[in-house]
Amino acid sequence: MVRYTNKVVHLQDNELAILTRDGFSISTAQAKPIQRSMEIVEWRVEDADLDGFPHYMLKEIFEQPETIRNAIRGRLLMGEGVPKLGGIMPVWDRLKECHHMVLVACGTSYYAAYVGRYVFEKLTEIDVEVELASEFRYRKLNFPPNTFVIALSQSGETADTLAAIREAKRKGASLLGIVNVVGSSISRETEAGVYNHAGPEIGVASTKTFTSQLTILTLLALLLGRHQKLSLTEGMEVIKALQALPEQVQSILAQAHHIEAVAEKYYKCNNWLFLGRKYNFPIALEGALKLKEISYIHAEGYAAGEMKHGPIALINPGMPTVAIVPRDEMYEKMISNIQEIKSRRGPVIAIANEGDDKVRELVDDVIEIPSTLDFLIPILAVVPCQLLAYYCATLLNRDIDKPRNLAKSVTVE
Ligand code: AGP
Repeated sequence: MVRYTNKVVHLQDNELAILTRDGFSISTAQAKPIQRSMEIVEWRVEDADLDGFPHYMLKEIFEQPETIRNAIRGRLLMGEGVPKLGGIMPVWDRLKECHHMVLVACGTSYYAAYVGRYVFEKLTEIDVEVELASEFRYRKLNFPPNTFVIALSQSGETADTLAAIREAKRKGASLLGIVNVVGSSISRETEAGVYNHAGPEIGVASTKTFTSQLTILTLLALLLGRHQKLSLTEGMEVIKALQALPEQVQSILAQAHHIEAVAEKYYKCNNWLFLGRKYNFPIALEGALKLKEISYIHAEGYAAGEMKHGPIALINPGMPTVAIVPRDEMYEKMISNIQEIKSRRGPVIAIANEGDDKVRELVDDVIEIPSTLDFLIPILAVVPCQLLAYYCATLLNRDIDKPRNLAKSVTVE
């Protein structure tokens, strides 16, 4: 739409608009007139162009250094070791006293929420639950006083997520949104929130909004953590690491040709396994989802510790495993998972830190990522997964930006 106009007027449910050459009028379904002002959408026409890329998905993967920069731009106060999030100020007095939070979302946004839970546990003293929005209504969740429910959604229109926040509101929770589309339903139905500012995401498979959601969740956790247990030095360390992320993502993108070569080796395999632990367990889920949705290859994401409880039965020379094995506290455990796979002759593609010779000797292929704080690794580790999925799907001649049976916004429950 930005090709034609950047002026938007939002309609609420049960409202009617009459557009003429000279203007517009809005009324309720019962013909009661409504005054509504116009808003300006900040997206540009160039944001919606392919800009020389063969697909929107690839363009959006390559935009990530910029979209991460946009997520932190103007939001970091280095001297105070604290972020500044204007959008949550209306609820700040309540939020800073909050000790119970529920993160709700669907699909890729849910996996971002899943990483978010680990990050909140690391940086704050808040009890955090994470719920699939589509299951939220079936749970008998207990909301202690001053519970915040945070909805994560790229589109801001996902029906299940909307239904979940309506249910949470009914139960007395305060609502926050982490949303990309300004003025979308979720942004309007939450009390406050943080926008991604990632620009339009056109490829059906979410990529840049995922890393943007992870960045914003870290900002929010850091802000609350600094009001709880984190010192100034700790706050400054996180900010420094956040500022380094765009360059680090860039260095992973520079390996696109290598990742394409890895995809060429394995794209004919019909079943893949993705493994990770702790912060990178949700990245294993997201890696598998990306591969499934655009290449139609069957893939499973697992917490690596669960492998011996079932999926190990599947390992064979025709089933590649993508193992996320950064040099973090989970390193040795991931190494032993990889050894278990190798002893069953399963091919392993490792996403590992730069210069990790131990991993290199053990596995078939390595995609290197730079080092950062443990809880920021998911922002880097997901990028090779996105590119692997993209190149496998291209080699299989799939319809990358519009995969079969999928819609960009799922507006039915
Ligand atoms: C992501 O690649 C998927 N297309 C899908 O899982 C998506 O993340 C989900 O439908 C949630 O969408 P939302 O972020 O717009 O709410």
